[in-house]
Amino acid sequence: MTSISQTFKCRSLLDLKGISFEDVQKVFYTARSFQNKENFTSLAGKTAALLFFEPSTRTRTSFEVACAEQGLYPIRLDGGGGTSIEKGETIKHTILNIAAMNPVVIVLRSGGSVPLYEIAQQIQQPIINAGWGLSGHPTQALLDVFSLVESGVEIKGHKLLIVGDVAHSRVAASHFELMEVLGYKLAVCGPEEFLNGSGIPNAGVQKFQSLDEGLQWADSVMCLRVQTERHTQGYDLHHFHRDFGMDRLRLEKASQSKKIKLLHPGPVNLGVEISHDVYDHPQSLILRQVASGVLIRKALIRLFSEGF
Ligand code: CP
Repeated sequence: MTSISQTFKCRSLLDLKGISFEDVQKVFYTARSFQNKENFTSLAGKTAALLFFEPSTRTRTSFEVACAEQGLYPIRLDGGGGTSIEKGETIKHTILNIAAMNPVVIVLRSGGSVPLYEIAQQIQQPIINAGWGLSGHPTQALLDVFSLVESGVEIKGHKLLIVGDVAHSRVAASHFELMEVLGYKLAVCGPEEFLNGSGIPNAGVQKFQSLDEGLQWADSVMCLRVQTERHTQGYDLHHFHRDFGMDRLRLEKASQSKKIKLLHPGPVNLGVEISHDVYDHPQSLILRQVASGVLIRKALIRLFSEGF
C-alpha cells in the first residue's frame, strides 16, 4: 500500500492513492503551459526509457511525442522480443539494468505480476505507471479528467458514468482513486459479471444495470473496452452492444436536458461499446483525450525530471 505523496517522495507515479489536489493542479497547470507553448528548457542530450511489455498505441506513442517535443531521446522496448528476456532475464532485472544507464524517467507498461513498488524502491529514477495489470492506469485517469475540465466541466460534483467491463479495467481502478481527491462522482453500469471486480468500491459508487437509467443520472459517460483477452468465459458481444452500447440515438435522447459528454480510453471496439455514429460526435471527447494524453504525459515527464 502506498500513497501518492509516498510515491512522489520516492519520485514515482505508481498509483493515485492519496494524490493531493495540489499535485493534480500542478500537473494540469504544467500541461496547460505546454498547450500555450510557453517556454521550457530543453531536455536534449538526456534519455527516457519507455518500456512496454504489453501492447499499446495511445500511451506508448503519446509518451514518445512527449519525449520528442522536449528534446528527450526515447529508449524503447516493445515487448520482450529481441531482448534478453528471451534468454530468461526477468522484467524486474531488465528494468534494474536500464535504470543503471541513467534515463531521467522510466515509463512502464506491464502485467500485474511485476513488483513495481519494490522496483521503485531500488532505483534512483522515477517510474511512471503506463498501465499495470488490473491495478491502475494513472496517467489515463488524469488525462480523462483534464479533457473534461478543458471542455468546460466543473469537476467537483461532476457525475461520470463508467459503462462496460469495469471488473477488468485498470482505467476504472485509477478513477476510483482519483474521484476521492477531486470530488467527482462515479457510477458503474453493465452486466452483473462486469461489475463484480474486487477493485470496485462497495460504498460511494452507484451501480446501474440499465444504461438508460445510468444516463439519466450522468453528466458524462465513459465506455470501456470489453477486454475479451482477460475473460475466462465467452461473452456475447452482440448482446452487450444491444444493452450497453452507445449510439447516436441513445446519446442524443439522453442529452435533451444536458449535453452528456462521451469518453472512451481506447482502443475502441466499434460496434461493441460504441457505434461509428458517435465516435466523432460533437459530444465525443475521444480524440481530445488522445491530445490531452500528450500534454499530461509531457507535464509528468517534465515535473519528474525536475524532481516534482
Ligand atoms: N488507453 C490506452 O491505454 O490505450 P493504449 O492501450 O493504446 O495505450
